[in-house]
Amino acid sequence: MSSKEIKNYINTNRRDFANQPFSEEMAFDNPIKQYEKWFEEAINSNILDPYAACLSTVDNLGRPSSRILYIRDIISEGFVFYTNFNSNKGSDLSNNKHASLNVFWGELERQIRIQGIITKVDDVISDKYFSSRPRASQIGAWASNQSQKIKDRSELESKIKYYEKQFQKKNVTRPPHWGGYCLSPTLLEFWQGRSSRLHDRIVYTKDDNQWSKSRLSP
Ligand SMILES: Cc1cc2nc3c(=O)[nH]c(=O)nc-3n(C[C@H](O)[C@H](O)[C@H](O)COP(=O)(O)O)c2cc1C
Repeated sequence: MSSKEIKNYINTNRRDFANQPFSEEMAFDNPIKQYEKWFEEAINSNILDPYAACLSTVDNLGRPSSRILYIRDIISEGFVFYTNFNSNKGSDLSNNKHASLNVFWGELERQIRIQGIITKVDDVISDKYFSSRPRASQIGAWASNQSQKIKDRSELESKIKYYEKQFQKKNVTRPPHWGGYCLSPTLLEFWQGRSSRLHDRIVYTKDDNQWSKSRLSP
């Protein structure tokens, strides 16, 4: 495809959304319950990796950065994901705890936007999750200085070999630089595509530990 054809494709492809309503009456009072309901529907719709989300963080100069990761747990405090604390996102979060998650389930024409504050989860939670990971992923957590430049793939592979030897016939312990973060939400927005771009948007905000919901204009 030429650049012109790509441009043409982007400019001219239009589709309307199926007109599935989402209203204040349909929305639970608790947004986590609502998330779980939509999550169940995502599973039932065979969406690939329904626990994938886009995490956005901001660095110390105010520059935003986004990447996909997996939401691995929902605890009373919020949404948990696992990563390398020394990665770019880890460095952003050490400067600025404000972050957002975005979930897009195209097949259901749904988007969920979540904003909140991120803190590290308890070591016990990270240890438990780390011990449930496949051994190769555990070794990978030791071998990869996530987000750092490396010379070539063989550099990574030789570090893998090194740590495989270190942990030969032993359980792989969790590296101190690897674990979970929890985003405690202060805002969640549930977006449902509707006909003629007149979408339904129900937003929940938290004040004095109480959730309230409102409708936003599309
Ligand atoms: C489907 C998918 C799932 C991913 N899951 C994770 C994850 O759970 N944790 C993680 O650290 N990176 C995950 N990644 C990789 C991140 O997108 C990213 O490359 C990495 O975390 C480094 O980001 P950073 O340099 O901004 O810190 C995933 C990527 C994709 C495409």
